[in-house]
Amino acid sequence: MIHKFLIPFLYLFCMERRKFIKNVSLGFGALPLLGNTDFVLQEALEVPADKGALMKDEKFWKKVRKQFNVDFSVINLSNAGISPMPMPVINSLQQAEIFANKTPTVNRHVQEKEIISVKGDLSKLLGCSVEELVLLRNTTEAVNTIFWGLDLAEGDEIIIAKQDYSLVYTAAEYIASKRKLSLKILDIPSMPENDQVLVDLYKNALGPKTKLLLVTHMINWTGQILPVKEICAAAKEKGVYTLVDGAQSVAHISINLHEIDCDFFAASFHKWLCGPPGTGMLYVKKSLIGKVTPIHPGLHPYSSFIDKFETYGTHSFAAQLALKEAIRFHEKISSGLIHQRLHYLNQLWREQLKDHSQIKIYTSSDIRFSAGIVLFMHSELEPSKIVQTLRKKNILVGSALWKDINGVRISPNIYTLAEEMERLALALNEL
Ligand SMILES: Cc1ncc(COP(=O)(O)O)c(C=O)c1O
Repeated sequence: MIHKFLIPFLYLFCMERRKFIKNVSLGFGALPLLGNTDFVLQEALEVPADKGALMKDEKFWKKVRKQFNVDFSVINLSNAGISPMPMPVINSLQQAEIFANKTPTVNRHVQEKEIISVKGDLSKLLGCSVEELVLLRNTTEAVNTIFWGLDLAEGDEIIIAKQDYSLVYTAAEYIASKRKLSLKILDIPSMPENDQVLVDLYKNALGPKTKLLLVTHMINWTGQILPVKEICAAAKEKGVYTLVDGAQSVAHISINLHEIDCDFFAASFHKWLCGPPGTGMLYVKKSLIGKVTPIHPGLHPYSSFIDKFETYGTHSFAAQLALKEAIRFHEKISSGLIHQRLHYLNQLWREQLKDHSQIKIYTSSDIRFSAGIVLFMHSELEPSKIVQTLRKKNILVGSALWKDINGVRISPNIYTLAEEMERLALALNEL
């Protein structure tokens, strides 16, 4: 069922220009097999030291755009599911794959030794220690590692919210039914009067049986940013473990894990970090590593070292090593500027639709509560109809369907230009 809902996010439309490869029909329209394979990066991205005025500087963002080999005949405003890698990251991934494949059994070990330096860069980006961070494949895997690795027993309670990501929500339902746990499901108002409303919602839900509180940092459907630091502090006071789903917040807004002071944090790097698909992480507070066992036991499931979670079999070190370049590229621009820019891009189209009688926006315009993801609903038109109509105008957006959410999701990226948001506004006004 859920997979049907997720299908709109999975469509990646690409039409290459310079090298025409025969189209193949995959059942949902003709997609070419390869993109522009002879793309050559013209120059490295230079970012001025003073970033103060960059948010609205289209000349600068055009330079950022040139780092991407994406199909610019389509305005891709569907980036919250997965983002493209910029060319420096693709190049780094290719080099790592080529090296790995020269003598796989030998070079794998050479590459494995370099992973620690990737973790070092990540720990600096996220404000934690390198001993608290493990590279996994994605947020789903990281969240499930905590659900199944904590010693939760019959009668214990987990708190989640209706607006958590669909497969995180079903993962909580699943473990609750298997282990006979109780599940408290909160309903988060999309535009609360202030942060305290949300903190109180979570705080008041904590009960004597609550063992784990899961909170999403940025809700994927609406882009709403939650006050995770305050929510985690309230849970800590009651001795409740906290797991933050950071799939949408990492590399999208500034994050410092030690400041948030959560117990566990899960994230994916194929979203806003623009890293290789199938790269993600789990953070476990140092003092708690011994209290969580890995899903795949390996040799030392009860150890107090984070590498016990790395025992999920053979996987691509090349993808993980390419994260080094993804972080380098990201840091040049910075999470702070990305937050500002994506918020600004969304403001551009929102401004032009604020008096529209049929379109209602469900994401706050306050930069403290939102960034690159905005959800709207139309009183007359189904989201899928809007997606199709925009698609005909070469504008790619996603539909968001989950529980009582049934809307259209707009998520630009750092390669998006202001003029493209103007085209979106025009197209929405013509619906
Ligand atoms: C908030 C949130 N959590 C979890 C996930 C799952 O991410 P992944 O598929 O990378 O595991 C997503 C994916 O969109 C998400 O938005």
